Amino acid sequence: MSRTCLFIAAVAAALAISAHAAGDPVAGKQKNFQCMGCHGIPGWKSAFPEVYHVPKLGGQHASYLVAALKQYKAGERDHATMRSIAASLSEKDMEDIAAYYAQSAGGATVAGK
Ligand code: HEC
Repeated sequence: MSRTCLFIAAVAAALAISAHAAGDPVAGKQKNFQCMGCHGIPGWKSAFPEVYHVPKLGGQHASYLVAALKQYKAGERDHATMRSIAASLSEKDMEDIAAYYAQSAGGATVAGK
């Protein structure tokens, strides 16, 4: 399948999902600017301060992502950076961002396209 087809499929899936799920992927795309620096989709590596592996978010289940963020916020997962980031997110932010990542299945995430 071409990238365009994948993108259309992802959008169609997102529309289908957003009819049911609480998260809003369009709002999530706007909120995810604070995550892209580390969870930038291509390669899933952080380049600053040094290259280290950052888990892939695109294509994960929204419920998994929300659960992980809540665990960071609650201190049940231990990672200083993610804990401070999760602490700044409301439950709605988490759901929106998770909905966005769930639909961006590892491709087609260029802003404005
Ligand atoms: C400074 C870099 C950085 C930023 C910014 C960042 N993350 Fe992370 N994130 C990480 C690292 C590193 C891990 C792996 C931590 C660990 O091992 O527990 C991680 C883990 C996660 C996980 C768990 C993934 C899994 O499969 O277990 C989620 C979900 C997540 N981040 C979401 C986000 C969201 C949403 C944002 C933006 C609001 C964000 N992150 C911003 C570095 C970052």
